[in-house]
Amino acid sequence: MIILETKRLILRTWKFDDAEDALKIWGNSDVMKYIGKPFENLDVAKKAMQNAISAQEKHRICLWAVVAKENQTIIGACGFHPVEDKVLEIAYHFIPEVWGKGFASETVQGCIEFAFTKLNIKKIVGFTDVENLGSQKVLEKNGFEFVEIVTGQQLSKQIKELLSLSF
Ligand SMILES: CC(C)(COP(=O)(O)OP(=O)(O)OC[C@H]1O[C@@H](n2cnc3c(N)ncnc32)[C@H](O)[C@@H]1OP(=O)(O)O)[C@@H](O)C(=O)NCCC(=O)NCCS
Repeated sequence: MIILETKRLILRTWKFDDAEDALKIWGNSDVMKYIGKPFENLDVAKKAMQNAISAQEKHRICLWAVVAKENQTIIGACGFHPVEDKVLEIAYHFIPEVWGKGFASETVQGCIEFAFTKLNIKKIVGFTDVENLGSQKVLEKNGFEFVEIVTGQQLSKQIKELLSLSF
């Protein structure tokens, strides 16, 4: 199911046969540098697909597959995790081959518009590693503002920046 489109990209729900593409994203240690342990194999990717499909059914949101219109390949994942009523956390992960082409900014912009207009969301937050300057820039370009440095065991790394955008 197509969730939204931008000029160059389509965001859609995952299918089980996308597991190899998912592994290309979350199995890559450069992509996972600030996120966590890279997926080890296809089984882990399949489980993540299943979790995303369940989250979509339950919350109408998940990290969707980002497909380049140009060649119909999956180049990343972007979407939301539920935080609390009317508040979502945004996340975006792209394969290194496409970094620096504006895809993250374009996708995040599409997701923000979708959340505020179609999901009746009032606030979106983003957590980035303090050293993940590219990720911070993507959020700042889209209007997010720094809130605070947060620490906590629930975070994959101990110290993160919290940024937020309100409607
Ligand atoms: C962070 C990430 C999403 C950026 O994706 P991207 O498609 O390269 O981002 P964009 O091309 O839209 O770049 C947006 C801006 O950030 C800048 N930028 C991107 N990567 C950067 C980096 N490593 N250091 C500094 N600036 C960077 C770009 O130059 C651009 O700035 P500009 O508009 O002034 O030219 C991508 O590197 C990625 O997927 N990383 C791994 C996963 C990750 O860390 N996700 C975020 C978790 S919180």
